[in-house]
Amino acid sequence: MENPFSYGTVVRGDDFYDRKDETQRLVSTLESGNNVVLYAPRRYGKTSLVFKVMAELEAKNCLCIYFDLLSVYSLESFAKSFLLKIKEKQSKTERFVKTISSYIKSIKPKLTFDENGSPEFGVDFLEDEVSVQTISDLLDLPEKMAENGQKVIVIFDEFQEIAKFGKYGLEGLLRSKIQQQRTAYMFLGSKTHLLTEMFADKKRPFYNSAFIMQIGPLPLADTTEFLQRKFAQFGIDISEECCAYLVQRTSNIPYYIQLLAAEVWQAVIVEKKSVTTQIIDECCIRVINLKRDYYFELFDKHSEGQKNLLVALCKSGRNIFSLDYIKTNRLKAISSVQKSVKTLMNNGVVDNEANLYFISDPFFKLYIEQQL
Ligand SMILES: Nc1ncnc2c1ncn2[C@@H]1O[C@H](COP(=O)(O)OP(=O)(O)OP(=O)(O)O)[C@@H](O)[C@H]1O
Ligand SMILES: [Mg+2]
Repeated sequence: MENPFSYGTVVRGDDFYDRKDETQRLVSTLESGNNVVLYAPRRYGKTSLVFKVMAELEAKNCLCIYFDLLSVYSLESFAKSFLLKIKEKQSKTERFVKTISSYIKSIKPKLTFDENGSPEFGVDFLEDEVSVQTISDLLDLPEKMAENGQKVIVIFDEFQEIAKFGKYGLEGLLRSKIQQQRTAYMFLGSKTHLLTEMFADKKRPFYNSAFIMQIGPLPLADTTEFLQRKFAQFGIDISEECCAYLVQRTSNIPYYIQLLAAEVWQAVIVEKKSVTTQIIDECCIRVINLKRDYYFELFDKHSEGQKNLLVALCKSGRNIFSLDYIKTNRLKAISSVQKSVKTLMNNGVVDNEANLYFISDPFFKLYIEQQL
């Protein structure tokens, strides 16, 4: 029997719930040619949402190119991956090859034929080192590939990673493309503070160039409906209270909701027991135990101030820079809290949503609580 819960991959169809308003807003904004920045803490479902948005846009005949910057590490790997992403959306390989040949001097496309006679696409880079000019030409390519007035939408995931290319000035280059092209761009990312700095700082190239949108957690009522529906498919009961408890244990982070639900499903499926809070607790402990060594090191490697802040964040993450918070949690000065938060956020241990700061991994939070 297959576990009905999935996490760690893009969820689609029946596995994806809610986000209807966000989907519509994104589709209409992009369709009308406007740029969007979408940010949210890690594992809130940005990429899944964007895949849904793309499916809707493609149904309306838009050409959507999705490009993840996380694995890109050089101009050449940028060029290669970007080209392949455009290629994926082309049904006419020969036309694609022709277009590259006529617009991009530094790339030589190759067309070979496999044993079935189907064309296979490859490229040679003619420069010793791929130049910024080549990237510039490539960024113009999607529009050149659009047919019959097709709208073009280019989506950069993990956009904060553009900082890796600081010395090449890709931020400025992209900004000029945004201004020159009809393409609508979407930028996604989880390092909230990096993205907001990029788009809301007057001194940065992207200032004011896109609508900034944020997604929050999934509403409890929808999560409850989702959990009950999935468990019911196997004849298993889960009460509203238990759903709320599961959501609370996972800090209401979509990825961890599905992870814990998958664990609970495992625990009850054989005997078809109803889900109880006790079973949920046992499953949490199992998840923590699997990662205990890792959590030990993760906690241990932080400074005393950072540890104290992590402990404080288990209790509350609101108004963390207030004197009251500092006093109650016996932290030092505001400046040291600010410094600790910054380090913890850069390391991906802490995230924030609006004014709320929280430990990114709810099981790490439960681990810390266990130790107290
Ligand atoms: N709308 C949704 N419905 C159901 N599950 C969801 C939804 N959004 C997210 N999830 C759960 O969260 C997991 C992570 O989703 P996704 O990869 O889209 O998030 P992300 O914000 O892009 O994460 P990351 O920060 O790692 O890039 C999914 O595998 C799924 O388990
Ligand atoms: Mg993602």
